[in-house]
Amino acid sequence: MGCFHITGGAALGGDALCQGSKNASLPMLAACILTKGETALSHVPSLTDVEAALHILRYLGAKVRREGGALVVDAAGIGKNDVPGSLMREMRSSVIFLGPLLARTGRAVLSAPGGCEIGLRPIDLHLEAVARLGADVKTEGGKIVCTAPEGLTGAEIPLSFPSVGATENAMLAAVLAKGETRILNAAREPEIADLAALLNAMGARVRGAGESEIYITGVKALSGAAVSVPPDRIAGATLLIAGAITKGRVCVKGLSPAQLVPVLDVLERAGCEIQRGANEISLYAPERLRSVRSVRTAPYPGFPTDAQPPITALLCTARGVSVIMETVFESRFRYAGELTRFGASIRSDGRFAVVEGVPRLYGADVAAPDLRGGAALVLAALCAEGESTVADAHHIDRGYEDLAGALQALGGNVRHCRAEGATAI
Ligand code: UD1
Repeated sequence: MGCFHITGGAALGGDALCQGSKNASLPMLAACILTKGETALSHVPSLTDVEAALHILRYLGAKVRREGGALVVDAAGIGKNDVPGSLMREMRSSVIFLGPLLARTGRAVLSAPGGCEIGLRPIDLHLEAVARLGADVKTEGGKIVCTAPEGLTGAEIPLSFPSVGATENAMLAAVLAKGETRILNAAREPEIADLAALLNAMGARVRGAGESEIYITGVKALSGAAVSVPPDRIAGATLLIAGAITKGRVCVKGLSPAQLVPVLDVLERAGCEIQRGANEISLYAPERLRSVRSVRTAPYPGFPTDAQPPITALLCTARGVSVIMETVFESRFRYAGELTRFGASIRSDGRFAVVEGVPRLYGADVAAPDLRGGAALVLAALCAEGESTVADAHHIDRGYEDLAGALQALGGNVRHCRAEGATAI
């Protein structure tokens, strides 16, 4: 399944270009089936989750080609409306095809999605959203069958939690529905506005994306469009934290500081100097990091749950005690036990972790339990004395584009060893 070999101790230094956003790319790829035209997306990162989305698109009948730096999806020939279990299991975000399939074909058949094991991750809010738009939702033989043979109708969709995926699915379904849709308590993550920008470029009428209330006026058809995927704020944050944990200085280019306010705030409280450019962020680490009293994850604009594991790894080496509270997912501390193998002092109890910083970590052999937990282990290994191996690298490859290469370019001693028989993505 591949692993990372890391020799720790080198202070990272230099400039890094931020990869394209995974969480923006996936709903954008699903949006491509809303049109019979061609959609060109540039700056799509090379990730196994993106490959999984392309598998689904091809299965459904779309043609995908690379042209220059862009992925071009021709969805004229969509001829299926089911996503087989094997493709659903490749990633949780496969559920994002629900809304577009219903809107395009009037029917969507899905099974339970896969993805990171970081909690229950139900899809009830996605199903409620399409039911509000008039879809009939049933389970048949372990499959979820949603139908709307006469098309969807605009409606009010109040979300009991501002779920990112459910907000996106509601938008994707509503853009071709008859009449007006209002999504209440919508997620405000930047990727919501990114998706709206693509949909509007295709001819949709979406207003308020990025706010708690989103208004959509359905249109009869959408056309193709060409947009660029924005930078990945979590991958960018990971590189900054890599600079901080190795006592280095790193500049991440192409990333807006406005989208990372709570992460930069924690890094400053830990003693890092941050310089915010219009479109880049520089970090200068202190000789010894300080603990921060508490970090609490929350939906945007709160501290992003995806940056929680990397920041916890960082606090393992800070002077003093830090408390990390996870409020978005139920079990996002599975990596904490692995961090203790490096000599970290960390106790976690469901949604809390208490970290007592130690002066140094020591190389260890560990396994990535999930995407961001895996990134946290790579960060710990970067600053640990001696050699480390992080196994189960496939989790990390879901969301980081050549993480080893990016860290090597900054002076880290990191090698990605692919499992025999695996193909490079
Ligand atoms: C997206 C991101 C993921 C990020 C998360 C929260 C993508 C591809 N992934 O995931 O990286 O960690 O947002 O910022 O964009 N929930 C329900 N019922 C539902 C849907 C969600 O109870 O129908 C719960 C989940 O179990 C979880 C919480 O809501 O506890 C947040 O989930 P959600 O915002 O939907 O995350 P994702 O869209 O899966």
